[in-house]
Amino acid sequence: MTDSAGGQRPGRDTRPFSGYHNRPTPNDDSFITSVGPGTPGGEYLRRYWHPFLLSSELKDLPVAVRLLGEDLVVFRDGSGRIGLLHRHCVHRGTSLEYGIIAERGIRCCYHGWHFDVDGTILETPAEPPTSRIKQHFCQGAYKVHEWRGLLFAYMGPVDEEPAFPHYDCVDHPGDNAPVPFRMNLPCNWVQIVENGCDPIHNAYLHAIVAGEQFSATFKVLPELDFPRTPLGFLSMATRKVGDHVFIRASDIVLPNFGQFPNGANMANRESLGLRPYLSRWAVAVDDHHSFYIGLAHLNSYNNPSGAMQAQDFGVDQIPFIGQTGDRPRAERQREPGDYDAVVTQGKIANRKAEHLGTTDRGVVLFRRMLAQAIRDVQDGKQPEVPRVRDCGPVRTYASEIVVRVPEGLLDERSALADFGRQAALAFVETDGLLGAEREAATQERVQALLHSLSAPAQSGQQP
Ligand code: FES
Ligand SMILES: [Fe+2]
Repeated sequence: MTDSAGGQRPGRDTRPFSGYHNRPTPNDDSFITSVGPGTPGGEYLRRYWHPFLLSSELKDLPVAVRLLGEDLVVFRDGSGRIGLLHRHCVHRGTSLEYGIIAERGIRCCYHGWHFDVDGTILETPAEPPTSRIKQHFCQGAYKVHEWRGLLFAYMGPVDEEPAFPHYDCVDHPGDNAPVPFRMNLPCNWVQIVENGCDPIHNAYLHAIVAGEQFSATFKVLPELDFPRTPLGFLSMATRKVGDHVFIRASDIVLPNFGQFPNGANMANRESLGLRPYLSRWAVAVDDHHSFYIGLAHLNSYNNPSGAMQAQDFGVDQIPFIGQTGDRPRAERQREPGDYDAVVTQGKIANRKAEHLGTTDRGVVLFRRMLAQAIRDVQDGKQPEVPRVRDCGPVRTYASEIVVRVPEGLLDERSALADFGRQAALAFVETDGLLGAEREAATQERVQALLHSLSAPAQSGQQP
């Protein structure tokens, strides 16, 4: 196999010790990985609301943040309004991280220019009273929305701002308030999303190879599937464990939102987990730095014993091994986790040097959808955004379903995959409903699926 220049493609020379002939070619996927202003990927990302800070991180002083390659400052003024401004003062560039917060807005420390949270210049005190300078400029500012303990920014064109997507995952009556967290990673945001599109790594990284990090159930190799949803697709794994089928479906929502079921459950009793454990966004600081930020749902389904506490979550803190780089190197080598797997792909993973297999279908699907969405924005189209409906919040689709199946059924891989897909899609197809009604309708559909499995077997036993 040769490349367009007539050379051997890396990895195709299968002679022993042929590293010389198999060195990786340079990366070339900035189309999907770039995040800065004016780049293809960056313009696309600027059509969405992105969470960037925990509310609890914003205290009485301005906070310098970097988001989508832009240096910004965020503060809460004396009247409780939140400002997200370009960090450097429009007068002569001093950082507003050293600005003095006012009852209304913030005042630059250097010459006292006073900015409102929307960037309006309220005062230029060193200028003569007749000066009209403040009418001719403003400080760059972005809109902020505070939701469930997270601050979200919209950094796109003013007239293309989408409505803020209130997701249904926070609306389960009786649940504790979701718990915010934020985890920093020194790599590009796309590979963090790809990790969620890759359910086979749960079997290897989190069970078989690197130690039992999820429950023992994850050692069983699953059937994978990636059916589409109105928001993106499901990243699915279906396992037969003894006489139970364990169906785990994560939500992948473009560009950077994902929801993941609990990893601690065993496939040893029937359950219908129609709610995520984590709702999470992979947000770009710049091309080479990102964080995932989101909400943990510590409800009776995900946390039945109450072992996980709100204080287990925070900045660079989550109660799951291998999510930070602060463990001793040797410990990370002995039991690596997601952080080690994802960050060591490189600041920007070299996709040109990859050799993808059949289990990478979800990753490929995500890249294709992402690239298409970026092209659409380049062509002047509005991208798909999660929409609040007339009849309530944005519906989401993460689920974890365990059912008992009669002996001898679903032993074939294709039948098992098909059953898993239909069961997970039952929760997608009922999205016209909400809450308990939707759960009941999903339950009914899953029971009907089970019945259709066992009915032919029973009728076969009739004389
Ligand atoms: S640099 Fe900010 S007021 Fe002069
Ligand atoms: Fe993982």
